[in-house]
Amino acid sequence: MAPVNVTVTGAAGQIGYALLFRIASGALLGPDTQVSLRLLEIPQAVKAAEGTAMELDDCAFPLLSGIEVTDDAKKAFDGANVALLVGARPRTKGMERGDLLEANGGIFKPQGEAINAGAASDIRVLVVGNPANTNALIAQQHAPDVPAARFTAMTRLDHNRAISQLSSKLGVSVGDIKRLAIWGNHSATQYPDVFHTDVNGKSAADIVNDETWLAESFIPTVAKRGAAIIEARGASSAASAANAAIDHIHDWVLGTPAGDWTSMAIPSDGSYGVPEGIISSFPVTCQGGEYSIVQGLEINEFSRTRIDASVAELVEERDAVRALGLI
Ligand code: NAD
Ligand code: LMR
Repeated sequence: MAPVNVTVTGAAGQIGYALLFRIASGALLGPDTQVSLRLLEIPQAVKAAEGTAMELDDCAFPLLSGIEVTDDAKKAFDGANVALLVGARPRTKGMERGDLLEANGGIFKPQGEAINAGAASDIRVLVVGNPANTNALIAQQHAPDVPAARFTAMTRLDHNRAISQLSSKLGVSVGDIKRLAIWGNHSATQYPDVFHTDVNGKSAADIVNDETWLAESFIPTVAKRGAAIIEARGASSAASAANAAIDHIHDWVLGTPAGDWTSMAIPSDGSYGVPEGIISSFPVTCQGGEYSIVQGLEINEFSRTRIDASVAELVEERDAVRALGLI
């Protein structure tokens, strides 16, 4: 079988360094799938990405069939089956929100165009670079020939963080927790929802039985964990973000376990009152390489207010990039 072409942007960055070795070792697509890596960087960082490629060579990974390093998006996405868009423009001092969106538009518009021009027909895109949901929307809008549903953004790190926090609170192992959901934006407005979560056959919300803990401890801890990591490490999360990116693609391609679901930011089909088209996080199951939104969940008042607030932020971001002419 031909190797799967996996393109990683921002390959010389800290997430890139935590991600590439695991992709090459088989963690992304399983132990039977050969991968060929394309590393996209800006010209100033190509040399560093070449250094990482040398290290990848030195690992002699049996599943790694090739590595190409480039600063040309067209080359990087030509024939790509999986694209991990990690490189983004971080917010720097004095930068307004509009400046940040505009700077990222300058990255995700040409990358969307390059995906449209040359990616394989089964291309699956995960945007990690922030603001991830809106960057995914920008790329998607510049790839009109690719099915819109193939553009996704990462809330799996939030999902994993929420499971970890809940497991500490309840004194259970992470494997005992199923069906947790992240709704909305990968930002401080996101909503980690435990009202449908199962812990060894019991409802997590019933076991917790404390809305104050949910509102004042659990939700803000999960939603602000990225900022807490930056404060502690002096740099944003890298290995945990890379791990979540692996989980996202792994489950999308190979499926979610029976009886469980995961969280992915995907173009809304209008489910749960989320406006169609915006890239918002939902609980999803994956099978046969396709994801579908978990339907029929009852959304209580506590959840509704929080989902609506995060979705309103996404609508605002969409309107802002529209006003800037980026989509
Ligand atoms: P980093 O600064 O270490 O690396 C980013 C890399 O991207 C750099 O090497 C840079 O040269 C490269 N880059 C910039 N523009 C590019 C372009 N046009 N094409 C290709 N490469 C380009 O940053 P990092 O720590 O690796 O984080 C990357 C992004 O991921 C940031 O936006 C960060 O906020 C985001 N992030 C998202 C999540 C999430 O859960 N969604 C979690 C953690 C970090
Ligand atoms: C995270 O959730 O760790 C990151 O999105 C934080 C950031 O701003 O890079």
